[in-house]
Amino acid sequence: KQQPKKFVIGVSQCSEDIWRNKLNDELKMGEYLNDSLIVKLASSNDDNVLQNKQVNQFVDEGVDLLVISPNQLSAISKAVERAYEKGIPVILYDRISNTDKYTAFIGCDNYHIGKSMGTFIAQKLQGKGRIVEICGLDGSSPAMERHLGFMDAIKPYPGIQVIASEGGNWKEEGGVQAMKRILKKTQDFDYVFAHNDRLAWGAYEAAKQMGLQHRYKFTGVDGMATKGGGLELVRDGIFEASYLYPTKGDEVIALAMKILKHQPFERKNYLSTSIITQENAELTLMEARDAERQAHNLKALHKQVDRYLSDYNSQKVMLIGLCLF
Ligand code: FRU
Repeated sequence: KQQPKKFVIGVSQCSEDIWRNKLNDELKMGEYLNDSLIVKLASSNDDNVLQNKQVNQFVDEGVDLLVISPNQLSAISKAVERAYEKGIPVILYDRISNTDKYTAFIGCDNYHIGKSMGTFIAQKLQGKGRIVEICGLDGSSPAMERHLGFMDAIKPYPGIQVIASEGGNWKEEGGVQAMKRILKKTQDFDYVFAHNDRLAWGAYEAAKQMGLQHRYKFTGVDGMATKGGGLELVRDGIFEASYLYPTKGDEVIALAMKILKHQPFERKNYLSTSIITQENAELTLMEARDAERQAHNLKALHKQVDRYLSDYNSQKVMLIGLCLF
């Protein structure tokens, strides 16, 4: 009997961190749920040149669909266009590229995230206070959009000022360095708005080194359920707030399958998200950990089935061997 055709999805990740690890795991799980699927992962560790190369390589191998998180807006648009022009469907995921030559987008509305965090902080400050911003990687779309949304949110509050805005890439160490630069200039502010939780944590650590951590309120984005992740930090009162930035690898795979099977799909797919404060951190953490347990069970089950199948196949081979003698 002829085997059904396998679809190969090439995934090009811009970065390597706990958020991407969770996502990659979820994408790989897509293989368990779809017999006809092979998911190939490539990660460029924030390197534009490497990401270009990896995307081009997937195209040359002839993958059936690409999922791409572009490191920066402009850096890999040529490779994205090349893939699209060769007829390979391209899903942009979480970050966008400055080209219209892609099949679909799935991810959060980062402008909205920046805007609602801005509104949250402005309300907490009752319209009067000083904020410092620690930005994600320069030229990467979520950093640009979170910044714009934030600035728009605080515009109607003349009593609120952003007194410093420092770049920190997306990493904890970037947050440490950015906060150190800020603290050298001024220590007179109320809030730190960091574009993700790793940056916010870095900023917190830098303040702590100077014994200043209790002077400021820290906010980030991601709300990971890992140990020391955003949800715990908000629950424990170390962060004032975070913003859920869901990975949702299953929804990415579902969209990819629709495209591959020529079923109708939406071109823009916004994932639902929400602010995390002390009021909902514990509950969100419980739910996220529950989902993780289920995913873990599914993986264990899959391994067991694999083991049974390979035992069964080797027994079958032995039996056939015996019969032949
Ligand atoms: C993970 C990450 C997140 C951030 C997102 C933005 O690689 O840095 O922390 O929210 O990317 O694209």
